[in-house]
Amino acid sequence: MNKKIFITREIPEKGLNMLRAKGYEVDVFHKNESIGKKRLIQALKRKNYDAVLCLLTDHIDADIFDSAPTVKLYANYATGFDNIDVSSAFARGITITNAPTEASCEAVAEHAIALMLALANKIVEADDFVRQKKYKGWSPMNFVGTNIFGKTFGLIGAGRIGERTAHYAKALGLEIIYSDTRVNDRLESLYGARRVASVEELLGSADVVSIHVPLLPSTRHLIGEAEFRKMKPTAFLINTSRGPVIDEKALVRALQEKQIAGAGLDVFEFEPKLAPGLSRLKNVILTPHIASASIEAREEMAERSAKAIIDFFDGRVPETIVQK
Ligand code: GLV
Repeated sequence: MNKKIFITREIPEKGLNMLRAKGYEVDVFHKNESIGKKRLIQALKRKNYDAVLCLLTDHIDADIFDSAPTVKLYANYATGFDNIDVSSAFARGITITNAPTEASCEAVAEHAIALMLALANKIVEADDFVRQKKYKGWSPMNFVGTNIFGKTFGLIGAGRIGERTAHYAKALGLEIIYSDTRVNDRLESLYGARRVASVEELLGSADVVSIHVPLLPSTRHLIGEAEFRKMKPTAFLINTSRGPVIDEKALVRALQEKQIAGAGLDVFEFEPKLAPGLSRLKNVILTPHIASASIEAREEMAERSAKAIIDFFDGRVPETIVQK
């Protein structure tokens, strides 16, 4: 019998075509908004689906699993999978896959660097100034930023995305230090990166701190009030990982009190909501969780997710299976 796949939102055609070419019956939730729990449960009750291709905005928990007992696989169209209650899935014998890709590593690394450069050069503020017709002529002290050449880049999380980010940072002349539970030999040999003993040590030395850790109980609020106090007043904080890694209220305070110089955020603690006061600050750049939104990344993610589903039903272990 043909497998039935439910997809919680439109994804690039490439992935859909791979699934259709296998003869699978593919249903896509076509509204351009998050499906939400209620509608997802309703949709899954309509047919005996075999797999669901879901997004990081879908909270996949025990209620979802129990409403769709025929679904054996949830393929998450994202690198992160903190939106899925993995232990409830495993307890029910359900398989979870994610979709890390080379192109999304590139995209996120490029975005982190773009945020860093935009902060150091006050690009967003200056653009706004010109658009508002406030530019009346050159002035020596207009939008004076900072060079990043020769500064110290502190990487929190030295996995694939962190490593790619370090590659660009090194090319821009920054020294790399990193904090991770594991030694990354490649990072050290390719980019001369130095592993520091703790996040605290990194925060005290880095001019730019870039976060690349998954959201886990151990990384939730990894950066909060105490950590901001350890950072340099000239430091920039970049987050392209997951919002709750930073205590966002504490970040607003740190920015207001100039404990740090600025922040570039692509993710938010209570996404899509922002902590009160955040959007009024000038020393912050905010992007709407688009770090991996390059066409190359999105297409590769669609292919990866589709391949995981195909491998699973063809009896192969998907390369991107989430391990127990
Ligand atoms: C994006 O945030 C992803 O996890 O792929």
